[in-house]
Amino acid sequence: MTGPARIGLLGKGTVGSAFHDLVAERAGAVAEVSGRRPEITGVLRRSDGDFEEILAGADIVVELIGGTDPARDYVLRALEAGKHVVTANKQLVAQHGDELFEAARAGGVQLRFEAAVAGAVPVIRVIQESLAATELTKVFGIVNGTTNFILTEMAKTGASFEEVLVRAQELGYAEADPTDDVGGADAAAKMAILARLAFGTPVGLADVSYEGITDIQPDDLAYAKELGLSLKLLGVAERRRGGISVRVFPCFLYGGHPLAPIEGPFNAVMVESPAITEITMSGPGAGGAATATAVLGDVVSILSGEAPVHVTGERLEVVRDVASSFYLHLEVADRPGVLAAVADVLGRNGISVRSVVQRGTGHDARLVMVMHQTPEDAFYTALEELAKLDFMRATPRAIRVIEEEFN
Ligand SMILES: NC(=O)c1ccc[n+]([C@@H]2O[C@H](COP(=O)([O-])OP(=O)(O)OC[C@H]3O[C@@H](n4cnc5c(N)ncnc54)[C@H](OP(=O)(O)O)[C@@H]3O)[C@@H](O)[C@H]2O)c1
Repeated sequence: MTGPARIGLLGKGTVGSAFHDLVAERAGAVAEVSGRRPEITGVLRRSDGDFEEILAGADIVVELIGGTDPARDYVLRALEAGKHVVTANKQLVAQHGDELFEAARAGGVQLRFEAAVAGAVPVIRVIQESLAATELTKVFGIVNGTTNFILTEMAKTGASFEEVLVRAQELGYAEADPTDDVGGADAAAKMAILARLAFGTPVGLADVSYEGITDIQPDDLAYAKELGLSLKLLGVAERRRGGISVRVFPCFLYGGHPLAPIEGPFNAVMVESPAITEITMSGPGAGGAATATAVLGDVVSILSGEAPVHVTGERLEVVRDVASSFYLHLEVADRPGVLAAVADVLGRNGISVRSVVQRGTGHDARLVMVMHQTPEDAFYTALEELAKLDFMRATPRAIRVIEEEFN
C-alpha cells in the first residue's frame, strides 16, 4: 500500500465520532510511525452514506456500528473484498469469530479488535503478540466498567442496586437498556474472545456460563466488608482437567488481591502462566475517546506490519463443574441449635467453613460465613438442604469468593 491509508468508517456514534476526531488530530503522528497518513474517505450512518461506495474506496474498514446485524454482513463483505477490518464489536467477534477469522485468512487481510475487550487497555495485543510464546493457563479480570461502577457505589454508599443503576445511567456509565451489562452477557462476550485467543481454541458465547449482579443486596456488601472482602463481577477463563472453563460471576476478593483496588468504571485483566507468573493490565474500559484510541492503535498495527496469526486448534471440552469457595448469608431464627444444624448440612456435603460472623438477634439474626473451596455441585446441594431447614427466615444467599490471598 502506498499513498494515504483510506478508511471507510461504519458508524459515527460515541466511538465513531471520537475516532473521526482522533484521526484528524493524530494523522501526522500515525504517518510518522507507520509511513502512511490515515484519511477517512467515507462514513456510514443509519440515515447517511452508501456501503458499496465506502467499501470500494477504502483500504481499511472500521466497524463501529455495534450489534451483529448488519455489522456481521458488512464486516464479512469487507474481508471478502480484501479489505482489512478494525472493529470494537465484542458481540460480533464472540458470536461469529469462526467465520470472521476464516474470512480474514482466506482474504489475506487483518481483522483487529483491540477495543472489543477492556476499551483502551491493550489486552488483546498482549495476549496475541507479546505473550504468544508462553502457554497461558488463566485469563481473568474485571471486563465490564458499568457493573464495577455499580458495585463500587453500592459498597461505598450502602444504596441498593436499583438506586445506583439510576445514578450510573445519569452519569453515562450505564446505557438506557443496561440488561447486557448488569446481566453479565457483555462480560461473557469479552471472556469468550479472551479465552479463544489465550487457549487457541474455538470459544463462542454458548460456552460461557454467566451470572450478573442484579441480585446483590447492600447488606452482602456491608457484611463482606467486615470479613475483609470486596465484590467484583469477574470473568474467569482457565484451563481445567484437559479442557477449559469460561465463566462470569459476582465474586468476593480478599483485600490483598491485585483486582481488589480496581474501583469505578475501570477494567483490569490478569494473565497467568508458569513462565510469567502473572501480569495485570488496568485502565479505562469504555468511553468514546479511550475506545477510539484502541481503534486507531489497530489501524497503526495494520499499517505497520503483519497480522497476528489466529491459531485456532482443536475444540477443547468445556468443563462446567468446577470448585469454588463461597460466601453464605443465612437469615435464621434466633434459637439454640441453629449453628449446629447448619454445620451438620455443610459437613455432610464435605464443605468446611473458613470464617463465621453472627449478627443481630430475634427477627434480625443472621449467619454470614465463608467456606473453603468445594465442588460447586456439592455446595449447591447443601444450599438446597439449608433452604429447607425450618428456622430459615429467607432463601439463603451465596456469592463466590476467590480464596487466594496475595500479599
Ligand atoms: N461506547 C463505548 O464506550 C464503547 C466501548 C467499547 C466498545 N464499544 C463498541 O463500539 C461500538 C460502537 O458503540 P457506540 O457506543 O459508538 O454506539 P452508538 O453511539 O450507538 O453509535 C452507533 C453508530 O452506528 C450507526 N448505525 C446503527 N445502526 C446502523 C445501521 N443499520 N446502518 C448504518 N449505521 C448504523 C449509528 O447511526 P446514527 O448516527 O445514524 O444513529 C451510529 O452512528 C459497539 O460495538 C460497542 O460495543 C463501545
